[in-house]
Amino acid sequence: MTVRERAKAIEDKIIAWRREVHRHPELMLDTVKTAALVSSALREMGIEVREGVGGNGVVGLLRGEAPSTPGEAIRTIALRADMDALPVKEETGLPFASEIPGLMHACGHDAHVAMLLGAAKILSDMRKEFRGNVKFIFQPGEEGAGGARLMIEDGCLEDPRPDAIIGAHVGSLWNVGNGQAGFRPGPLMAASDRFEIFIQGKGGHGAAPHASVDPVVVGSHIVTALQTIVSRAISPTEPAVVTVGVIQAGTANNIIPDTCTMKGTVRYMKRDLGPYIKKRITEIACGVAAAMRAEAKVTYHFGYPPLVNDEDLTNRVRASAAKVVGEENVVTAGMTMGGEDMAYYLEKIPGTFFAIGTGNEAKGIMYPNHHPKFDVDEDVLYIGSAIFVQACLDFLGEEGPYLRK
Ligand code: NI
Repeated sequence: MTVRERAKAIEDKIIAWRREVHRHPELMLDTVKTAALVSSALREMGIEVREGVGGNGVVGLLRGEAPSTPGEAIRTIALRADMDALPVKEETGLPFASEIPGLMHACGHDAHVAMLLGAAKILSDMRKEFRGNVKFIFQPGEEGAGGARLMIEDGCLEDPRPDAIIGAHVGSLWNVGNGQAGFRPGPLMAASDRFEIFIQGKGGHGAAPHASVDPVVVGSHIVTALQTIVSRAISPTEPAVVTVGVIQAGTANNIIPDTCTMKGTVRYMKRDLGPYIKKRITEIACGVAAAMRAEAKVTYHFGYPPLVNDEDLTNRVRASAAKVVGEENVVTAGMTMGGEDMAYYLEKIPGTFFAIGTGNEAKGIMYPNHHPKFDVDEDVLYIGSAIFVQACLDFLGEEGPYLRK
């Protein structure tokens, strides 16, 4: 039986898990019920379970039972899924739609949980056929709370330490078609920082601007000047984004307000660009404000780091995926400026994050991730499980500890 056939044989189970999780979405770090479902499913498979990791995370450990020679180095590979949903009101009309008002699995993390449980089930049934360990990492809080960082701080990458880590995302992200797997060695997703600029002007009558310091005009100049960071301060060969998404000031058409507040997001692919962009935003905001007799204060928060796939591991997992879906269905994923906290694991351990194409226009599944009508083609989920399993078997099947080239 091929790995794909094994996955196909438990497809109903994988879809049932997905629907169960989809019905009960949970926000950010509060993945209590999802974690309970995951823990009990893993225990039923005879997998060692550690609960409450980094809050509401779950770590499963499966030890292969194929005979090994005494003293032989044992490899460990980790597979990761995120469990959290989004504050989105579901509009899919699915029979298993969210039962929690205002919350929805609109990013497909329900599918990630199901695919990883599917992989755990297949591998647990095959434990006599491989040596080494597989660690299953189910984390909360991908959508902004940095659940991965909390899991790492709570030791999810220790005891045993994985030699490699793999994660995947569903959707029609990165131009990956239905049933295809998309890989990209090197940078794949961006760092995601945010900033706030507070401008202190001097309020007054709208008809007497000379007697006030207008923070709306100051703010407008700052927004325009910030555009020069990407266009004039960063190399044109380096992807970066500075977006101001919020400007708040004023109450009436004829009043010059005292203050103006702006908020924005910053994205980039090279880690050392972060401090540089922070410095430029501060210099521009404070400098422009000072030139116009106002004062600016900048608060900058560093968020998820850039997601950088290990080249060697990515090529290995890509080869494993080709065994499952065929070379013609393995494609190169496009880079995006979205953020992903999988990046934290990849800073510690070589690994790869890849895309599984679950869009399907013929079935009306064509909305982007985070949309109220987002859905995944369930017929593809077993393929995700199969790729995970094939990648583990290939990785663990090689001799000795994994050493980075
Ligand atoms: Ni997501």
